[in-house]
This record gives sequence, C-alpha cells and structure tokens, in this order.
Amino acid sequence: MTDLYAVLGNPVAHSKSPLIHSEFARQTGQDMDYGAILAPLDGFAATIGRLRMEGYRGCNVTVPFKFEAFSLSTSHTERAEIAKTVNTLKFAEEGVFGDNTDGAGLVADIRNNHHVAISDKRILLVGAGGAAWGALFPLLAEMPERLIISNRTIAKAEEAVRVFSSRARRKTEFAARAFDALAGERFDIVINATSSGLKDELPALPQGLFAEGSLAYDMMYGKKTPFMTFAIEQGAEKIADGLGMLVEQAAESFFFWRGIRPETRPVIEKLKS
Ligand code: ATR
Repeated sequence: MTDLYAVLGNPVAHSKSPLIHSEFARQTGQDMDYGAILAPLDGFAATIGRLRMEGYRGCNVTVPFKFEAFSLSTSHTERAEIAKTVNTLKFAEEGVFGDNTDGAGLVADIRNNHHVAISDKRILLVGAGGAAWGALFPLLAEMPERLIISNRTIAKAEEAVRVFSSRARRKTEFAARAFDALAGERFDIVINATSSGLKDELPALPQGLFAEGSLAYDMMYGKKTPFMTFAIEQGAEKIADGLGMLVEQAAESFFFWRGIRPETRPVIEKLKS
C-alpha cells in the first residue's frame, strides 16, 4: 500500500514540498504519495487527528502551525525540544514524534551546497522569530567564532540568547545586539531569518557588515529580496536564497520518515530551472 504524507499549512498552495518529496520518492524507489493540505487556522489538531485516522504516516508542518505541532507531539527529537518548534511529524501507534529539520537544512545548505564552513567563522543571524529559533542550535553546534543574533525587537534576541546560551561552547561568543549596535562589526556569514522579504522590506542594518569573501544568506526563496540587493551593494561575495535550505530540510524529514537519505543536488537544480 502506498504510504501517505503531506505538508500542512495556511496558506499552503504555494508549497514546493510535494514536488520535492515526489522527486525523493522516485529517486529512492519509495512507494509514497505526498500532498498539500490547507488546515483551518483553528483546526490544526483536528486535521492531524483526521490524517492519523486515514492512515497517513506523517506530515510536514509550515506557517503558522510549527508551535502547535510542537505541543501536539508526544515525543520530540533533541533539536525539536530545543527549538520548541516542529516542522516534521511521524505518526505511530504509540504517538506522534516531532522533529525540527529546518536548522539542519540551513547548515547543510551553507556547508555542502555553498561550500562555506561555519566553524570558526563570524556569523550574524538577523531575526528572532520561529525561523531564527530553529536555526540557533544547529548553528551553535558548528562552533562558530561568534554568533550574534540581532532583531528589530531586541528583547526577543536577548530572550533567545538566554534560552540557548547553555548550548554554546566556550569558544563561541554568543550574544544579542540591536541593529544599530552592529555598526563597525564585520561578519563572514550574514543570515536573514526575518520575514521582511515577504513585504519587500529591508531590516534597518548598518552599512559595512560584510567581511571580505562573505556569504549573505536569505532564508526566503523565489525572489530577490531587499536584503539580497543590500548585500550585493555592500560587497558580499556570495548571495544565497533559501531554496537549498528548503530541499535540505525536506531531505532530513525524508530520512526521519524513511531512514534513507535522498540526493538533494538534482532536486535543487530541477527547482532552479
Ligand atoms: P518566522 O516564523 O518566519 O520567523 P515570526 O516568528 O513572525 O516569523 O518572526 C518574524 C521575524 O521577522 C521577527 O524577527 C521580526 O522582527 P520583530 O521581532 O521585531 O517583529 C522580523 N521582521 C519582520 N519584518 C521586519 C522588518 N521589516 N525589519 C526587521 N525585522 C523584521
């Protein structure tokens, strides 16, 4: 029998996950079907209940349900427990297992696809919402020289440092800074984890943040964001969007469900074209 999976979100019609997972299934010879399901804003738990009744094996969860998916999981992987958000659910007799593959997807994309090392580098993470929280533990695990988290609402960045500081190794400087307090600092990797690109806005970052040879990474994909334009003007050497992260997090989810690692490169190339 074909195993059923889906991505749940609201909105969800734009999701590329069905295409990505169909490619993974074809590539690895897995008999599975992956769809997109629009869950009502007040009906996430009910939708999960229905999918379990219908024999689904698991699902991905996207905006705005990642916090609810965490609460609904009966057990979590360590990285989901730390991030307090879940983007991948596995359904079993015993319960619902929650994982968060977003941060691992980001790290895999930077390291393997963009060939940029994170360890011993100066990293700036802009944003302190769900996307940034998912990235913090996997970034800290790479042991950068510095990981500075900056947010328009500085209290949220400070809260993230309080929550995650026990995960930072001693060699990593891990701190929160307001945007204007970044003036004069240089970073090897600047990651935009804000939703500013959705509204065609640019976070109010100071000039001169990009060190020589630096990578500017926007977690958004599908358009050139004001952050990317800013990074080009400011002399960042490499500019990346979040398409690779999307495919890499999907590959991590696929592994969580099926125990097989699909090849991501051909799928990234296919989506680009
Ligand atoms: P997500 O789950 O995508 O991270 P979120 O939890 O709503 O979404 O968080 C959105 C993030 O984008 C926040 O860090 C937000 O900053 P605030 O905490 O100050 O609201 C940030 N953000 C959105 N628009 C922004 C803009 N124009 N400039 C700077 N930061 C912005």
